[in-house]
Amino acid sequence: MSEPTNGPLAHVDDWEESLQARYPAGGGKRKDQFRNYQAEERPSVKEFYRLNHRFQTLDIVRAKKREYLPPRKRKMGVWGAMEFLNTLVDDSDPDTALSQIEHLVQTAEAIRRDGHPRWFVLTGLIHDLGKVLCLFGEPQWAVVGDTFPVGCAFSERVVYPESFAESPDAQVSQYQTPCGIYAEGCGLDRVHLSWGHDEYLYQVVKDYLPDEALYMIRYHSFYAAHREGAYAQLMDARDRELFAWVRAFNPYDLYSKSADRPDVARLRPFYEELIAEYFPPTLDW
Ligand SMILES: [Fe+2]
Repeated sequence: MSEPTNGPLAHVDDWEESLQARYPAGGGKRKDQFRNYQAEERPSVKEFYRLNHRFQTLDIVRAKKREYLPPRKRKMGVWGAMEFLNTLVDDSDPDTALSQIEHLVQTAEAIRRDGHPRWFVLTGLIHDLGKVLCLFGEPQWAVVGDTFPVGCAFSERVVYPESFAESPDAQVSQYQTPCGIYAEGCGLDRVHLSWGHDEYLYQVVKDYLPDEALYMIRYHSFYAAHREGAYAQLMDARDRELFAWVRAFNPYDLYSKSADRPDVARLRPFYEELIAEYFPPTLDW
């Protein structure tokens, strides 16, 4: 089996754009919207999900966790990680594309404008820093994409559910029940989700932020759960309570990015102070 070194998307942010198409601003979701979305999707995105669903097996998730956890690849401060992520350039549109730092600051500024607590603003700023996995050489399917539990039956409410037929895990009988290897109501902390930038960043920052922020970071790509209501059988009372925060964060993740370039130089002192309020000068990545 050969693994692609990078992936079919021109840039990992193409996945974020596909989310906006699937969940348009303003809600009003029609019953057939999901199907229409898939019919209109770009071939590169569909191919991306094919690889994501093919390779994100329980064995591979466990292997990625052994490789990356506890984080020990690199020592960086939060702003340093933002600058590192900024080296992930968008080749498709170099003149107009906003940088990764500009996207992160846009999300944080939208949260700040709405008067949310400082930890919420900080969460908006940092929530995608796990994408530095791309710079460690990880293929796109191991960094972005909707996350989903492995080791139990795949839900029809995950995007492109038909492509799970190609997963080797679809042949493991133990994984074909709603709870699979897990106990009913065991809580998501005991469940392996597909590996990517959510879980990785959670592991980097878990000692420093309130639980509400950690849920936003750890589950922001778990659309089958927070937008579609799937996998309730694996959740416990704490998950159900804290998913309200994942849902509160989602509009900022999806709809705060615009073509307006934020003045990063002017805003940097505010964010450096906010980072220092919660984090030590360097973190293990
Ligand atoms: Fe993300």
